[in-house]
Amino acid sequence: MQNSHKRVDAHLSSLGYCSRSEAKKFLKTFRVCVNGVRVFETNKKAYHSEVTVDEIALDPEKLTILMNKPSGVICSHDDVGVLIYSMLPERWQKRNPKMSTIGRLDGDTTGAILLTDDGSLNHKLSSPKSDMPKLYEVTLAQALRGDEEKLFSSGALTLKGETKPLHHAKMEILGETLVRLEIHEGKYHQVKRMFGAVGNKVIKLHRVKFANYAVEDLAFGEYKILDEAFLILE
Ligand code: URA
Repeated sequence: MQNSHKRVDAHLSSLGYCSRSEAKKFLKTFRVCVNGVRVFETNKKAYHSEVTVDEIALDPEKLTILMNKPSGVICSHDDVGVLIYSMLPERWQKRNPKMSTIGRLDGDTTGAILLTDDGSLNHKLSSPKSDMPKLYEVTLAQALRGDEEKLFSSGALTLKGETKPLHHAKMEILGETLVRLEIHEGKYHQVKRMFGAVGNKVIKLHRVKFANYAVEDLAFGEYKILDEAFLILE
């Protein structure tokens, strides 16, 4: 677990409690203690684990959460509409480095998405080499035609505009118009384009699981903090 040693105002501002310039006032308003002793000096140095605000430990230095993304929410920092970050507590929205999604889901896609302020974790998990399994439940406009499972698992399907074929994907049929699809890549609109390639259309897309993280116990919009000890994804 990270436990950095730095000025109290630096701890508070990087975790979104207040800005550096507001720190003096924050220390007057809230009971900020280092090892149980109240501090008023912004330049007092302390380990993260030693600082409390109103008797409560600081938020974790690295924060990674799993959210069950609702439909209509956008995975972007600077788009129009309801951004996914607006669903986080205000303090988390002010963290520096910022919380960012690990990869993206389309606005109308629901389900499992990780958000983190840990840049190296984000890079590792969203890189094309990361190979993280992503499991989707897909509702289709038309009944399956019969060859989809074979084609998707063949590793021979090249999507329009791509030069290389997709890796093999596993498809499980749940009904005439309902399947589960596990992919290991994350190309733009990949699932929708895969079904487009077989003459169908995705009308509902829900990501059941990202790596080991499933959202079945979370309502739409709910999230849970992933303990660092849990973050063993390989
Ligand atoms: N594939 C898609 O087409 N959309 C998503 O949001 C995720 C995977």
